[in-house]
Amino acid sequence: MNDATRGTGGPGDGTRAVRAGLPEPVKHEPTLPGPVFAAHFHLPGDPTGPYTYGRDENPTWTLLERAIGELEGPGRDGVETLVFASGMAAISAVLFSQLRAGDAVVLPDDGYQALPLARAQLEAYGIEVRTAPTGGDAQMEVLDGAKLLWIETPSNPGLDVCDVRRLADAAHAQGALVAVDNTLATPLGQRPLELGADFAVASGTKQLTGHGDVLLGYVAGRDAEAMAAVRRWRKIVGAIPGPMEAWLAHRSIATLQLRVERQNATALRLAEALRERPEVTGLRYPGLPDDPAHKIASQQMRRYGCVVSFTLPSRERADGFLDALRLVDDATSFGGVRSTAERRGRWGGDAVPEGFVRFSVGAEDPEDLIADVLRALDATAG
Ligand SMILES: Cc1ncc(COP(=O)(O)O)c(C=O)c1O
Repeated sequence: MNDATRGTGGPGDGTRAVRAGLPEPVKHEPTLPGPVFAAHFHLPGDPTGPYTYGRDENPTWTLLERAIGELEGPGRDGVETLVFASGMAAISAVLFSQLRAGDAVVLPDDGYQALPLARAQLEAYGIEVRTAPTGGDAQMEVLDGAKLLWIETPSNPGLDVCDVRRLADAAHAQGALVAVDNTLATPLGQRPLELGADFAVASGTKQLTGHGDVLLGYVAGRDAEAMAAVRRWRKIVGAIPGPMEAWLAHRSIATLQLRVERQNATALRLAEALRERPEVTGLRYPGLPDDPAHKIASQQMRRYGCVVSFTLPSRERADGFLDALRLVDDATSFGGVRSTAERRGRWGGDAVPEGFVRFSVGAEDPEDLIADVLRALDATAG
């Protein structure tokens, strides 16, 4: 077992993942109870919880929330987790439950491409939005007087990294709350709450669930009052996960450590192979020792993710490369057991060159995957 799996002492990450959120054993009951499909629950007399109405609570969510809480905040009392219908539902729940007209919020200007949509909506509600790049802790420069700092590290798709503790300390010193989008790292790669954040937020659609068949989001937080507002927002908006999705997510978390170990190790090997190719520029992977983000990443991350990004000389070359791949689906999203890659510029939302490729490494045998990539590069050369 290596340092990465040992984290904060106690059981290793594989052990924690397979046991995360499981109820105490009950004779004749399954290890992980199946999804509870219920819009309402028997409720005679005064309406007391835990289970009253299906938009407020569900036993399948309870177990999943416990599982995610154990991974995001191991050994910590008072960490509360709430699951949502998608990552964007979770992000919106934090932004819109915490901010009021007249407040200022700091967002990254190189984060997930739906953040500008959230920005426009925040501004329409009279909230001042300031943006700065992730790299170089540039958000520090625009923190003054802000109510909330939103960090995305590593950033998607540019894979820049900022110093979470440094930014969180600066934000807290002036009374701002701090949220970290932990989608790319997963809680086995980085634990924002330990680094000082008030909220760890993520799209569970990606590597957390890892099979490309579930949309999910979550917010884990350690400030009871702030989390009460997030819970209230979930009730108002109703962006809740279905019980089946919640159960599939919990089932998938059992293999999180296996998937993350394999995918991330292959991502490093792929990055090393790409580094040797003359047609590849702008290669980024925070796990590469010479990556500009590696120094900070190695201080705050235990694993570096399954996404590698790089640029090919032109849009045509990138499209040809994607087309020539046999083991890699040309698809968006990332984190799944089947490798995917896309020319990110096709969406128009990211400030990336036309030949920029975001590559999500799956669980294929590393030799097969790397051979496929090198073959597709050769096939489209010249
Ligand atoms: C970093 C990051 N955060 C949030 C999201 C949004 O998640 P979802 O698609 O589950 O709404 C994504 C989706 O790609 C993402 O990459």
